[in-house]
Amino acid sequence: MSQPLVLGFAGSPRRHGNSEQMLDACLSGAEGAGTRVHKLAVAELAIHPCRGCGGCSLTGECVIHDQMSEVYEAIDRASAIVFSSPVYFSSVPGIMKVLLDRMQPYWARTHVLKLPRPARRPGGILLVRAGGDPYGFVAAEYPLKSVSAVLGLEIAGEVKVTDVDAAGAVSRHPAALDHARELGARVGASALSGHS
Ligand SMILES: Cc1cc2nc3c(=O)[nH]c(=O)nc-3n(C[C@H](O)[C@H](O)[C@H](O)COP(=O)(O)O)c2cc1C
Repeated sequence: MSQPLVLGFAGSPRRHGNSEQMLDACLSGAEGAGTRVHKLAVAELAIHPCRGCGGCSLTGECVIHDQMSEVYEAIDRASAIVFSSPVYFSSVPGIMKVLLDRMQPYWARTHVLKLPRPARRPGGILLVRAGGDPYGFVAAEYPLKSVSAVLGLEIAGEVKVTDVDAAGAVSRHPAALDHARELGARVGASALSGHS
Protein backbone atom coordinates (compact mmCIF):
# COMPACT_ATOMS: atom_id res chain seq x y z
CA MET A 1 0.00 0.00 0.00
CA SER A 2 1.34 3.47 -0.83
CA GLN A 3 2.24 5.87 1.95
CA PRO A 4 -0.22 8.71 2.59
CA LEU A 5 0.59 12.02 0.97
CA VAL A 6 0.79 15.34 2.81
CA LEU A 7 0.25 18.22 0.39
CA GLY A 8 1.61 21.67 1.25
CA PHE A 9 0.73 24.94 -0.45
CA ALA A 10 3.39 27.68 -0.37
CA GLY A 11 1.23 30.77 -0.75
CA SER A 12 3.78 33.58 -1.05
CA PRO A 13 4.67 35.28 -4.34
CA ARG A 14 8.24 35.34 -2.93
CA ARG A 15 9.80 31.89 -3.33
CA HIS A 16 11.72 30.36 -0.40
CA GLY A 17 10.77 33.20 1.93
CA ASN A 18 9.54 32.98 5.51
CA SER A 19 6.22 31.22 5.00
CA GLU A 20 7.78 28.69 2.62
CA GLN A 21 10.56 27.97 5.12
CA MET A 22 7.87 27.30 7.72
CA LEU A 23 6.18 24.97 5.24
CA ASP A 24 9.46 23.18 4.53
CA ALA A 25 9.92 22.59 8.27
CA CYS A 26 6.35 21.34 8.54
CA LEU A 27 6.72 18.97 5.58
CA SER A 28 10.00 17.65 6.96
CA GLY A 29 8.11 16.82 10.17
CA ALA A 30 5.50 14.93 8.15
CA GLU A 31 8.20 13.07 6.23
CA GLY A 32 9.83 12.17 9.53
CA ALA A 33 6.51 10.69 10.64
CA GLY A 34 6.57 8.45 7.57
CA THR A 35 4.40 10.16 4.96
CA ARG A 36 5.21 11.26 1.43
CA VAL A 37 5.08 15.02 0.92
CA HIS A 38 4.37 17.23 -2.06
CA LYS A 39 4.86 21.01 -2.12
CA LEU A 40 2.97 23.21 -4.56
CA ALA A 41 4.27 26.79 -4.85
CA VAL A 42 1.25 28.86 -5.80
CA ALA A 43 3.56 31.46 -7.39
CA GLU A 44 4.58 28.87 -10.00
CA LEU A 45 1.02 27.93 -10.94
CA ALA A 46 -0.69 29.53 -13.92
CA ILE A 47 -4.23 29.72 -12.60
CA HIS A 48 -7.02 32.11 -13.44
CA PRO A 49 -9.45 33.67 -10.98
CA CYS A 50 -12.88 32.14 -10.39
CA ARG A 51 -15.42 33.76 -12.72
CA GLY A 52 -18.38 33.18 -10.44
CA CYS A 53 -20.17 31.69 -13.43
CA GLY A 54 -21.91 28.98 -11.44
CA GLY A 55 -20.76 26.26 -13.84
CA CYS A 56 -19.48 24.11 -10.97
CA SER A 57 -22.92 24.25 -9.36
CA LEU A 58 -24.25 22.40 -12.42
CA THR A 59 -21.52 19.81 -12.96
CA GLY A 60 -19.27 19.85 -9.88
CA GLU A 61 -16.36 20.77 -12.17
CA CYS A 62 -14.69 24.10 -12.93
CA VAL A 63 -15.26 25.41 -16.45
CA ILE A 64 -11.74 26.90 -16.56
CA HIS A 65 -9.10 24.53 -17.92
CA ASP A 66 -5.71 25.58 -16.64
CA GLN A 67 -3.07 24.35 -14.20
CA MET A 68 -5.69 24.16 -11.48
CA SER A 69 -6.52 20.70 -12.90
CA GLU A 70 -3.19 19.49 -11.47
CA VAL A 71 -4.02 21.13 -8.16
CA TYR A 72 -7.44 19.41 -8.00
CA GLU A 73 -5.73 16.06 -8.67
CA ALA A 74 -3.17 16.71 -5.93
CA ILE A 75 -5.92 17.70 -3.47
CA ASP A 76 -7.92 14.59 -4.29
CA ARG A 77 -4.85 12.37 -3.74
CA ALA A 78 -3.80 14.05 -0.48
CA SER A 79 -4.37 12.47 2.93
CA ALA A 80 -3.62 15.81 4.60
CA ILE A 81 -3.16 19.42 3.47
CA VAL A 82 -1.16 22.30 4.95
CA PHE A 83 -1.50 25.93 3.83
CA SER A 84 1.30 28.42 4.38
CA SER A 85 1.01 32.12 3.63
CA PRO A 86 2.31 35.54 4.53
CA VAL A 87 -0.11 38.26 5.61
CA TYR A 88 -0.58 40.84 2.87
CA PHE A 89 -2.63 43.90 3.83
CA SER A 90 -4.20 41.87 6.62
CA SER A 91 -5.32 39.09 4.28
CA VAL A 92 -3.59 36.50 2.08
CA PRO A 93 -1.68 37.53 -1.08
CA GLY A 94 -3.74 37.81 -4.25
CA ILE A 95 -2.30 34.63 -5.76
CA MET A 96 -3.38 32.68 -2.70
CA LYS A 97 -6.88 34.14 -2.82
CA VAL A 98 -7.13 33.15 -6.49
CA LEU A 99 -6.22 29.58 -5.48
CA LEU A 100 -8.74 29.55 -2.63
CA ASP A 101 -11.57 30.88 -4.79
CA ARG A 102 -10.95 28.09 -7.28
CA MET A 103 -11.96 25.61 -4.54
CA GLN A 104 -15.58 26.54 -5.25
CA PRO A 105 -16.27 23.21 -7.07
CA TYR A 106 -15.72 21.38 -3.75
CA TRP A 107 -18.27 23.68 -2.11
CA ALA A 108 -20.74 23.26 -4.99
CA ARG A 109 -20.50 19.46 -4.88
CA THR A 110 -21.46 19.36 -1.20
CA HIS A 111 -23.83 22.29 -0.86
CA VAL A 112 -25.54 22.46 -4.24
CA LEU A 113 -25.24 19.01 -5.78
CA LYS A 114 -25.58 17.30 -2.38
CA LEU A 115 -22.75 14.89 -3.13
CA PRO A 116 -21.00 13.26 -0.16
CA ARG A 117 -18.64 15.51 1.74
CA PRO A 118 -14.91 14.90 1.21
CA ALA A 119 -13.47 12.40 3.70
CA ARG A 120 -12.21 14.01 6.90
CA ARG A 121 -8.45 14.45 6.87
CA PRO A 122 -5.95 16.46 8.89
CA GLY A 123 -4.88 19.96 7.96
CA GLY A 124 -2.59 22.72 9.15
CA ILE A 125 -2.14 26.47 8.76
CA LEU A 126 1.14 28.41 8.84
CA LEU A 127 1.12 32.22 8.75
CA VAL A 128 3.85 34.85 8.95
CA ARG A 129 3.71 38.63 9.12
CA ALA A 130 5.94 41.60 9.73
CA GLY A 131 3.70 43.22 12.34
CA GLY A 132 3.47 46.96 12.77
CA ASP A 133 -0.23 47.16 11.96
CA PRO A 134 -3.06 46.48 14.41
CA TYR A 135 -4.90 43.86 12.35
CA GLY A 136 -3.05 40.65 13.19
CA PHE A 137 -3.65 37.33 11.44
CA VAL A 138 -7.38 36.98 11.61
CA ALA A 139 -8.31 38.19 8.12
CA ALA A 140 -5.74 35.85 6.60
CA GLU A 141 -6.77 32.97 8.83
CA TYR A 142 -10.49 33.00 8.02
CA PRO A 143 -10.28 32.36 4.26
CA LEU A 144 -7.84 29.50 4.94
CA LYS A 145 -10.17 28.04 7.58
CA SER A 146 -13.18 28.48 5.33
CA VAL A 147 -11.55 26.55 2.48
CA SER A 148 -10.16 23.96 4.91
CA ALA A 149 -13.71 23.19 6.04
CA VAL A 150 -14.86 22.79 2.44
CA LEU A 151 -11.98 20.38 1.78
CA GLY A 152 -12.86 18.30 4.84
CA LEU A 153 -9.76 19.31 6.78
CA GLU A 154 -9.66 19.08 10.54
CA ILE A 155 -7.07 21.67 11.49
CA ALA A 156 -4.54 19.91 13.71
CA GLY A 157 -2.79 23.16 14.53
CA GLU A 158 -1.72 26.59 13.39
CA VAL A 159 1.65 28.28 13.73
CA LYS A 160 1.80 32.06 13.42
CA VAL A 161 4.99 34.10 13.42
CA THR A 162 5.13 37.88 13.84
CA ASP A 163 8.17 40.10 13.35
CA VAL A 164 9.47 38.49 10.17
CA ASP A 165 9.83 40.66 7.10
CA ALA A 166 13.08 40.23 5.17
CA ALA A 167 13.36 36.90 3.38
CA GLY A 168 14.95 34.40 5.76
CA ALA A 169 14.11 36.39 8.90
CA VAL A 170 12.20 33.37 10.18
CA SER A 171 15.52 31.64 10.85
CA ARG A 172 15.76 33.98 13.87
CA HIS A 173 12.66 32.21 15.22
CA PRO A 174 13.86 28.63 15.76
CA ALA A 175 10.99 27.89 18.15
CA ALA A 176 8.48 28.73 15.41
CA LEU A 177 10.28 26.44 12.96
CA ASP A 178 10.23 23.71 15.63
CA HIS A 179 6.50 24.23 16.11
CA ALA A 180 5.98 23.94 12.35
CA ARG A 181 8.00 20.69 12.32
CA GLU A 182 5.98 19.35 15.25
CA LEU A 183 2.74 20.27 13.50
CA GLY A 184 3.92 18.39 10.41
CA ALA A 185 4.75 15.36 12.53
CA ARG A 186 1.24 15.47 14.09
CA VAL A 187 -0.46 15.91 10.73
CA GLY A 188 1.65 13.10 9.27
CA ALA A 189 0.93 10.73 12.16
CA SER A 190 -2.77 11.48 11.90
CA ALA A 191 -2.72 10.93 8.13
CA LEU A 192 -0.98 7.58 8.67
CA SER A 193 -3.47 6.46 11.29
CA GLY A 194 -6.45 7.36 9.08
CA HIS A 195 -4.96 5.79 5.96
CA SER A 196 -6.53 2.43 5.17
C1 LIG B 1 2.28 43.63 -0.40
C2 LIG B 1 2.64 43.30 1.02
C3 LIG B 1 1.70 43.52 2.02
C4 LIG B 1 2.01 43.21 3.33
N1 LIG B 1 1.06 43.43 4.30
C5 LIG B 1 1.33 43.14 5.59
C6 LIG B 1 0.33 43.36 6.61
O1 LIG B 1 -0.79 43.78 6.36
N2 LIG B 1 0.65 43.04 7.88
C7 LIG B 1 1.88 42.56 8.23
O2 LIG B 1 2.11 42.29 9.41
N3 LIG B 1 2.84 42.31 7.27
C8 LIG B 1 2.59 42.60 5.98
N4 LIG B 1 3.53 42.37 5.00
C9 LIG B 1 4.83 41.75 5.38
C10 LIG B 1 4.89 40.25 5.09
O3 LIG B 1 3.84 39.56 5.76
C11 LIG B 1 6.25 39.69 5.55
O4 LIG B 1 7.29 40.31 4.79
C12 LIG B 1 6.36 38.21 5.44
O5 LIG B 1 7.51 37.77 6.16
C13 LIG B 1 6.49 37.74 3.99
O6 LIG B 1 6.52 36.34 3.95
P1 LIG B 1 7.26 35.53 2.77
O7 LIG B 1 8.73 35.68 3.02
O8 LIG B 1 6.77 34.13 2.93
O9 LIG B 1 6.83 36.16 1.49
C14 LIG B 1 3.28 42.67 3.68
C15 LIG B 1 4.23 42.46 2.65
C16 LIG B 1 3.92 42.78 1.34
C17 LIG B 1 4.95 42.54 0.25
